[in-house]
Amino acid sequence: MIGGTLATLAVDAGYQVVLSNSRGPETLQDLAAELGPLCQPATWAEAAEAADLVVVSTPVKAYAGLPAAPFAGKLVMDTGNYYPERDGQLAELDSGALTSSELLARQLPGAEVVKVFNNIYSRHLLNLSRPADAPDRSFLPIAGDDGQAKAGAGQLRLRAGPVEAVEDAGKLIGRDAGAVIADFDRDGAAVTLTRRGFRHG
Ligand SMILES: NC(=O)c1ccc[n+]([C@@H]2O[C@H](COP(=O)([O-])OP(=O)(O)OC[C@H]3O[C@@H](n4cnc5c(N)ncnc54)[C@H](OP(=O)(O)O)[C@@H]3O)[C@@H](O)[C@H]2O)c1
Repeated sequence: MIGGTLATLAVDAGYQVVLSNSRGPETLQDLAAELGPLCQPATWAEAAEAADLVVVSTPVKAYAGLPAAPFAGKLVMDTGNYYPERDGQLAELDSGALTSSELLARQLPGAEVVKVFNNIYSRHLLNLSRPADAPDRSFLPIAGDDGQAKAGAGQLRLRAGPVEAVEDAGKLIGRDAGAVIADFDRDGAAVTLTRRGFRHG
């Protein structure tokens, strides 16, 4: 849901999008046709290789099957949240040794992983759009260990969505058990980042 929504917003903003899933490109042909000529289906390896910016938007349990090579040198946006009831118990996440994004970063050692879009419902991402200068626009936190990667991800401009404004939420560590929520005053000046017992997925 979140991946398809991001693809819709990205095409709308004029980006070329390569879609993939676990079942193969033929199952994505209808969606690609619906999104138009900027969108094409591919295998996940082809998609990762083709992209300047890769979105990994799968259940966390799928991370273990991702090969590092096609993602090497790529900026990877991770939308994932860990749900044991869906993903199964993952010991390193249960113990707090790793966050799910750190798990992905370890799986993709040549990539720069940032966590973003993980705490907004896909329908809200699509529908709660406001112009970039609207006083009540939404802000999304972005977490990652590399400042340049976060800045690069922040360059993504989806004109139909609230992701006009993406804010640095610190490092990947500790961002999982409770999603990081960014609170901004109405002019976007004051920022407090709090962790709440809240997960969105
Ligand atoms: N839904 C939301 O509003 C939302 C919001 C924020 C964050 N999230 C988080 O974002 C992640 C994705 O959520 P979702 O709701 O978008 O899930 P979803 O609707 O179930 O979509 C998951 C996608 O991942 C693909 N996939 C699964 N395993 C794969 C693999 N090994 N290789 C390539 N593709 C694979 C699936 O393809 P197939 O269908 O072919 O298996 C499907 O297209 C989750 O961690 C979720 O918790 C979701």
